[in-house]
Amino acid sequence: MKETDTQNGKGKVAAKSNAAEGLKELFIDELKDIIYAERALLKALPKMANNATEPKLISAIEQHVSVTEGQVKRLEQVFEILGESNRGKKCDAMEGLIKEAESILEETEAGAVRDAGIISASQKIEHYEIASYGTLIAFAKTLGENEIASLLESTLAEEKEADALLTDSAYNSINFQASEEDSE
Ligand SMILES: [Fe+2]
Ligand SMILES: [Fe+2]
Repeated sequence: MKETDTQNGKGKVAAKSNAAEGLKELFIDELKDIIYAERALLKALPKMANNATEPKLISAIEQHVSVTEGQVKRLEQVFEILGESNRGKKCDAMEGLIKEAESILEETEAGAVRDAGIISASQKIEHYEIASYGTLIAFAKTLGENEIASLLESTLAEEKEADALLTDSAYNSINFQASEEDSE
């Protein structure tokens, strides 16, 4: 393949020398991605909580910190079952989602509008996690790793619950208050 094929953005991509060869390797790669993402999120969540004002939102975020700690431990368990190192691999998507969340803080005044922005950013993060765990569970099942699949299913259920909690706090009061601020 010619080098220009990849440079113009349309061509076929040449694999790196350490590219995943089978589903198992891809599975491990994606596990490294999600453990990196969860650890990055753990560092970012306290800032989100500190910048939120609605008590329900603050407690939803704080609750998700401890849930996320448990998810990291669960992933460490998964790596142990696989006999692999639990070192993460930089997750560009989560880095980008966190950056976006931080820029929402800069672009809003503290209060209902910023809260609505925090919910929006958090839901994008939850949906990334939901998509990632959904795929990982499918991979685990295909690979016959049933114990791992059930560990990941527990995490997926927690992510869906977090998403529902965020939706709830948005619909119940925050978006409403934020729209009130428009008319002030
Ligand atoms: Fe998570
Ligand atoms: Fe989450």
